[in-house]
Amino acid sequence: MHKYEYIVIGNPISHSKSPFIHQLFAKQTAIPHRYGSLLVELGAFEKSVKQFFEQGGKGANVTLPFKQEAFTLADHLTERAQCAGAVNTLKLLENGEILGDNTDGIGLVSDIHRHFNLKEHAKVLILGAGGASRGAIQPLLHAGYQLSISNRTQSKAEAMIDEFKKIGLLSLHNESDNHHDYDLIINATSSGVSGKLPALSENCLTPTTCCYDMFYQVGNTPFIDWAISHNVKGTADGLGMLVGQAAHAFTLWHDTMPDINPVIVQLRNEMS
Ligand code: ATR
Repeated sequence: MHKYEYIVIGNPISHSKSPFIHQLFAKQTAIPHRYGSLLVELGAFEKSVKQFFEQGGKGANVTLPFKQEAFTLADHLTERAQCAGAVNTLKLLENGEILGDNTDGIGLVSDIHRHFNLKEHAKVLILGAGGASRGAIQPLLHAGYQLSISNRTQSKAEAMIDEFKKIGLLSLHNESDNHHDYDLIINATSSGVSGKLPALSENCLTPTTCCYDMFYQVGNTPFIDWAISHNVKGTADGLGMLVGQAAHAFTLWHDTMPDINPVIVQLRNEMS
């Protein structure tokens, strides 16, 4: 028997906050939920997942660098996982097959709803055309937002628009347009990791614009600091998205949505 029924798999994994978050969900809901972490060597992902499920495992979260391998390994995919081209949650089905889901984007949408009271069909600009952005597009379109995309390498943003045109309209952000009226700008680039700002003109900000950074750290991210210095309407970092994606994974496994608010507070305290 495996020590855990639920795990987070990655490499590296020691930094992962998922065990802390899931232990709080288990306590809050009183649902038995033995959750731990598993470091997997590169090249050993499929073998490790199969072994885990053979030993009584019921579900797994998947983090870097295995989200694409998890996508390939799953026998069935949810629509949002298909659109994301990546899987962050696996569930063992009763017939022994594996379902792959991606809860990152819905975790983001839940957190946006928690922070900002956006109007229906609000105009949202997403910065970046990598994996983080790809995972967010279908859930954002599904939430009814009008989406634009901007990326440092414009050809990648154009390719993304083309790729997603089957499920919804995504337009290319025009930096030279002087009349931007975005309700929300989401930083989905990895610029914050190196302490940098994503390239974006301050003309894109109005007093009614909100800014969300998928990145988080102790204290404000560079993007949040930049937004605050331009007096935007509201800001939030990605800590709530992290807890949100975990909550949606918990729901896939246990059919119960935990309350993310107290968990975000405890996680923020734990980090500082
Ligand atoms: P992830 O999977 O986290 O999205 P990724 O696939 O490596 O990571 O994508 C990183 C994204 O952040 C890309 O859109 C990248 O822009 P390019 O396509 O031009 O490389 C963007 N990015 C990274 N550093 C950036 C920076 N300093 N300024 C602006 N964009 C940046």
